[in-house]
Formats: sequence, structure tokens, C-alpha cells
Amino acid sequence: MKIVVLNGSPKGKLSFTIQYMDYVKQFHPEHEWITINVAKKIKKLEKKDTEFQAVIKEIESADGVLWSFGLYVLCVPSQYMRFIELIHERNAQSAFEGKYTGIISSSIHYYDHTAHQYLRAECEDLNMQFIDGLSVYLNDYRIKELRELLRIFMDNFLSTIDNQKATGKLYSPLRFSEFEYQPTVLDQPKIDTKQKIIMITDEYNPQSNLGKMIDQFKQNFSNEIDFLNIQDIEIKGGCQGCMRCGYDYNCFYDDEYKDVYNNRVITSDIIIFAGNMKNRYLSAKWKQFYDRAFFWNHTPSLVGKQIGYLISGPPTPNHNLIQILEASATTRQDANFTGIITDEIGNSELLDRQLHSFANQVVYFSEKEYVRPQNFLGVGGHKVFRDEIWGPIRMIWQADHRYFKKHGKYDFPQKRYFIRVGNFFMLLLCKIPFFRKKFYNNLKSLPAKRMKSSLDKAALKEIEAAKTT
Ligand SMILES: Cc1cc2nc3c(=O)[nH]c(=O)nc-3n(C[C@H](O)[C@H](O)[C@H](O)COP(=O)(O)O)c2cc1C
Repeated sequence: MKIVVLNGSPKGKLSFTIQYMDYVKQFHPEHEWITINVAKKIKKLEKKDTEFQAVIKEIESADGVLWSFGLYVLCVPSQYMRFIELIHERNAQSAFEGKYTGIISSSIHYYDHTAHQYLRAECEDLNMQFIDGLSVYLNDYRIKELRELLRIFMDNFLSTIDNQKATGKLYSPLRFSEFEYQPTVLDQPKIDTKQKIIMITDEYNPQSNLGKMIDQFKQNFSNEIDFLNIQDIEIKGGCQGCMRCGYDYNCFYDDEYKDVYNNRVITSDIIIFAGNMKNRYLSAKWKQFYDRAFFWNHTPSLVGKQIGYLISGPPTPNHNLIQILEASATTRQDANFTGIITDEIGNSELLDRQLHSFANQVVYFSEKEYVRPQNFLGVGGHKVFRDEIWGPIRMIWQADHRYFKKHGKYDFPQKRYFIRVGNFFMLLLCKIPFFRKKFYNNLKSLPAKRMKSSLDKAALKEIEAAKTT
């Protein structure tokens, strides 16, 4: 059989993930293995159609396709996403149709599930037959059991193809509607605010739904808001994964990106990203913008900001994208996710009203410095970063380490001495049957009673304070 490995790491042969792939394929010399560094040579594939067609030819003659990538910013690297965009732009979908496929990624397991869901859904959209996905940790190659898992993964992958077994589907196809947004002139008071707002887009066409949504949103304000089209700034390429920024946030690229990010994006209070959905994400250009912001490493650079999205396309059947966008604002940035407004509703009057409410709400939240407490996306994400930066990856991400130390992000539970002492005594006391019975009998009512009494006290004080202001 012929298996094509599509290497999605911009590092090409130096990719961590491809080492796993190279290891496991040695157990199957009976098959033909072709690895193509599609992310590394993405500019060539874009410019020279013959190069792109050569890749497609290999796919056409393959029995199976393996997607291999290192995770970048909650999804695949922008160069890989661009390759997927090219498949659609150049109508090469048929080469993938019916092919068996699987995924291997490496990462620190921070939002590896969203990257896998994205790619699996892309495969299903291409009518490929998805077999399995494996997400490995950076150093898992040292673990014998993991290497064994890798071999089982591959044995299963190959035998599924060999026996032409049936595979399942998890994602419904997306439907992009033909709805044409017709905004009306607002009959509402304009918002007058001192908060600094920036609208960032990757595509501005005043005739498109996205362009009209951008204009309508801007109309809500009495003053001009900053407007940035990322196509207008010099971005020499996608993140190369060199990690030089790890020491002091300095990116090896010498282009306009860093200045624009630091002087226009970070200095704003409210950041609204506007984009068209392309396949299962926004555009690869957007992904490039997000990946390049990684020069800030794992340090949140938009702390306390309001971050919202205007999207043309159908995000609601693509919940994975919603999760990526929410997590990008909350767990990545310690910012407030103010939501997504989309033309998917297919009703111009309602969209006008939603944009108006959205504009008012982001300003209100910003003026009040409202940042919702983190949910699982943020709490879980923080713990992964905290443990990794404190531990195995600290030597690379030294700037992160300094930030985490200074900002109390090393909040390990073992530092909570009061709880540790409490646990020690309670564990001892619970060995006494009488105490244990009483403790567990009261467990349902006591915490709520205590909570109510202290909340009542706080409420009284706050009501009094509110009366005097
Ligand atoms: C720009 C950049 C972004 C990253 N984003 C993530 C991430 O969101 N989640 C994660 O678990 N690891 C992330 N990582 C870690 C990489 O996934 C990890 O180093 C991986 O092994 C790289 O694989 P590769 O060498 O095959 O490209 C990121 C690394 C870089 C350089």
C-alpha cells in the first residue's frame, strides 16, 4: 500500500511530530511511505500550481493519508491551514474523497482536542474515511508504553485500509447561506465612550455581508473607531516555530507585525475581530495573525480586554470554532469573551439590533472592567500552562517563567497552607466513626448555611453602600 504523510510542521524534517511518524513507519517496510512537507513549502505550493498538483497526484494514488502536525495556538499551524484552503480553492477535493485517513499530533496537550476536531471535521468534509487520531506529548517517545500505542495505532490504521473496513462520521457538513444582509440606518442614540476600540479584519469589502456588518457596528459610535485590515500590514510569513521569542518576546521576523500588535492591538480596551468562516475555521490569514502573536509566548498580552467577534458564516454547527475563539480570549489572554455576532441568523433587522446591543454591551463591560471568572476552558488551560512552564518547558519559555512568577500564576495547591492543615486534621478526625457520621450528615446543609449567612452580611453592607452613592 502507499501511504502519504502530510507534514504540517513549518519545521519540515526537523518537526518533532514527524520523528514519531518516522519511528512507527519502520515497522512497516512492506508499504510505500511518502512524506511531503506541505507546511514548510507552503509559499511554493501557493505560487506554483505545478508543485501543488504534484502533491495532489501523490494523494490520488495513495491508499491512505496521514496528517502529522505540531499543535499551534489551539489548532493546526497557519501554513497547514493554508494548504487545506488551497485544496478547496483549487478544486482538488476529489483527490481526497474516499481515502482512509488518520491524525498524529504532538503538543503539550493544551487544546489538542480542538485541533483534532478541526482536522477530523475537515477530513470528513473532504469525504475521507477517518480511522483514528493520536495526540502525543513532546517527550512521550521516551515511554515504552507510548511507543507501543503508536505501533497499535499504525497497525490498526493499515489493517483498516487493507480490509477496507467501514468508518464512522462525527460532523455534519456546514451549510453556507446565500442570505444577503441589508443594514438599515440606525435609529438609536450613538455611543459616546472614551474606551479605545479596534476592529480588526482580514477582508474588507463594503458589499459583502462581513463588510456591511463591520460598517454597521462602527455606525453605533459617535467617534471613529480604529480599523485594521491585516492584509495591509507587512507580515512576512507564518510562525516558524523557532521559539527564539521564548527568552525575551523577540520574534525573529523583521516586519510590521510586532509593532502593529504592540502599538495598536494591545493598547486597545475593546478588540473586535471580524472574519469570514473558511471551511471549519476563519481564514488561514487569520490563523497566521494568531500564530504570530505567539511571540508573546504563553504570557497573556490582552489581559482585561473585551474580545468579541463578527463572523460571516455558520459558526453554530461548528462548535469547535466557538470553543477555540472563546478559549483564545479567556484562557490564552485572561480577557473577557464578549461573544460572537454572525449573519447566520439570516434576518437583517435582527442583525442590526444584535450589532447595536453588542456594541453597547462591550462598551459597558469595558467601562466596568468586567472579566467573567474563568470556566473549565480557562481553569484547565491555566493549569496545563502553569505546570509546563514551571517544569519541563521553562528553559525555553524563560520570559513566561518571569511573568508567571511575578503575577502569581504559580498558584499550586500545595502552597495553600490553611487548606493543607485543614485537610490534615479533617482526615484524622474522620477516622473516628462518630465524627465522620456527623460531618457527612451535615455536608449537604452546612456549607450552604455558612455561605448564606456571610453573603447576607455582605449584601447588607453593599446595599447600604449603594444607598449612599
Ligand atoms: C507557535 C507555537 C504555538 C504552540 N501552540 C500550542 C498549543 O496551542 N497547544 C499545545 O499543546 N502546544 C502548543 N505548542 C507546542 C507545540 O505543539 C509542540 O512544540 C510540538 O511538538 C511542535 O511540533 P512540530 O515540531 O512537529 O512542529 C506551540 C508551539 C509553538 C511554537
